[in-house]
Amino acid sequence: MYLTKEEERIYDGEFGWANQICMRILVRLGELFGATELIPISSAHASGVSYKTLGDAPSDFLEALASSGAKTKVKATLNPQSFDATYLRKKLPRELFEKQSSIMKYFQKMGFDPSFTCTPYYLEKPKKNSHLAWAESSAVVYANSVEKAWTNREGGPSALAAAVIGKTPNYGMHQIENRQPSIMIKLKKPLLRDVEFGALGIFLGKMLGEKIPVIQGLGNASADDLKQLGAALASSGMVNMFYFEDEPAKSDVAEKITVEAKDIQRTIETLTTAQIAKPDLVFLGCPHCSLNELRQIASLIGNRKVRNDMEFWVCTSCYVKSKAKKYVEKIENCGGHVLTDTCAVVTWTDKLGIKSVMTNSAKTAHYAPT
Ligand code: F3S
Repeated sequence: MYLTKEEERIYDGEFGWANQICMRILVRLGELFGATELIPISSAHASGVSYKTLGDAPSDFLEALASSGAKTKVKATLNPQSFDATYLRKKLPRELFEKQSSIMKYFQKMGFDPSFTCTPYYLEKPKKNSHLAWAESSAVVYANSVEKAWTNREGGPSALAAAVIGKTPNYGMHQIENRQPSIMIKLKKPLLRDVEFGALGIFLGKMLGEKIPVIQGLGNASADDLKQLGAALASSGMVNMFYFEDEPAKSDVAEKITVEAKDIQRTIETLTTAQIAKPDLVFLGCPHCSLNELRQIASLIGNRKVRNDMEFWVCTSCYVKSKAKKYVEKIENCGGHVLTDTCAVVTWTDKLGIKSVMTNSAKTAHYAPT
């Protein structure tokens, strides 16, 4: 890779170990993917924040970076962690909370925004055509497809390194030639529910490999539907973006596939793996809820009460929750919990005695059983 004089000095350790290791991660990654240079980014979003999914060794690495003076150079947000501030904190063992708190402390010491959400685009919309280094596959697909920003699917370490250096290797989704669609997907029947959009994502993700699709027939899809579709697409496969129908000059691809209603129905059936008829937990908010979704949930719950033998969690970011006081109050008065900073996948549901989960999220349905 070609490095500028300053990049070379960082690489050689003149700016300390933390900057050096971050630069080395980026250069190695760039070499693996044939990049010839680093390019500046507008923001980074790091995953690997939950102690449940992270464990102890990466946590030691974060501590070393933070105590060696690593500092973010661009706006840098964080994925969900394993606790919310109140509900789970009371219910889960204290030693787990302490481990999680240390991880958060290291990230914050480096300058990361304690956003703890998988929907950083609600906090600040990325600019069209801006280059990002985002981990969290659902956010990557949303940023590339809906916000029209440019990001590869980073891993936790590479997003962290990019945040500290303020740059990312120029390859993959940062190059226009790699953002061209190669397959046209025609929906036989319009999709009607969030679950169907998620099922379409799972179905296509398994089939497409890394091909970028143009999906025809999404005219009625809301931004929330596209979020469900993208999250699922990234869970079952390696697709990092999709185009939706009315985008110009994208309809001349050679390969064409039709998706029928029965493909969607079958996918929903395969996502249903519980052997127990009654769920212990009903979980909404994967990816984290938008303001609009909180409004819909509050309106759908009406005057019903959550049963005593069941948990009802709605997960979102602190930012969105702060804008939705009225809806949050309604959901909580009915016995639900609007949890921020976390989700049912990155916390210890098993330690809470939860064996069976009902969700509208195809991503959670795909991951939770494993
Ligand atoms: Fe977000 Fe958790 Fe789903 S991190 S995308 S709510 S699995």
